[in-house]
Amino acid sequence: MNVTEALTSRYSVRGYLPEPVPDNVIQEVFDLARLAQSGTNSQPWHIAVVSGDACDELRRRLCNRFDSGDRGKRDFPLPTERLPDELMDRRRACGYSYYSTMGIERSDRKGRATIARKNFELFGAPHAAFFSMPRVLGLSSAVDMGILLQTVTLLMVERGLGSIAQGALAQYPDTAREVADIPEDNGIMFGVSFGYVDDDAHINTVRMPREPLEAITSFVA
Ligand SMILES: Cc1cc2nc3c(=O)[nH]c(=O)nc-3n(C[C@H](O)[C@H](O)[C@H](O)COP(=O)(O)O)c2cc1C
Repeated sequence: MNVTEALTSRYSVRGYLPEPVPDNVIQEVFDLARLAQSGTNSQPWHIAVVSGDACDELRRRLCNRFDSGDRGKRDFPLPTERLPDELMDRRRACGYSYYSTMGIERSDRKGRATIARKNFELFGAPHAAFFSMPRVLGLSSAVDMGILLQTVTLLMVERGLGSIAQGALAQYPDTAREVADIPEDNGIMFGVSFGYVDDDAHINTVRMPREPLEAITSFVA
């Protein structure tokens, strides 16, 4: 498999088989991901992997928080300014595409909450990883975290693994810290659930569209 094949076959997996990924495969992915580039080679990242009983405990605690109606408090707060309309439109379309695949109407708040809860169920994955960086860092280091994320994701595709990045896993950082081994001064940016893809999970049929090249580029000669 080459990079183009990994990139074009990757999608966010929201249904997993319970079988764990062998330790040596997990180690290899994160060992290779160390080679990702970062500004001034600062390598600001830390990845805290949670598996086995710890992963089940994490799932249970996150779901309890979600079920209690607690909105959590993120280490890196979400933007509070209103987003440009076109971004809002794409966000909504993203959510609705998952709801409609699962047969849930836009007006069905309970149904939508059931889908949102799946984030905290880790979509049934046997592993989760928290991506964190020192809290003092800002936007430029967030870029490094994104590069690491894509590197990890493609390495997983190459090994027949599915994954999903989850901003939702940054929602309850205190709960994450209770279970995962996260450096004290770090803030959690996002999490990634991963494992073997459940090909029978209907949610995994969703493929999100992309804007055409001319919408995201400009060329001057
Ligand atoms: C940083 C980041 C955070 C994300 N957070 C979530 C999340 O909390 N829950 C979720 O279901 N998907 C999440 N996603 C997945 C995106 O919705 C998904 O990447 C996007 O819709 C494109 O679809 P694709 O990954 O299947 O190509 C996240 C993706 C990224 C890159």
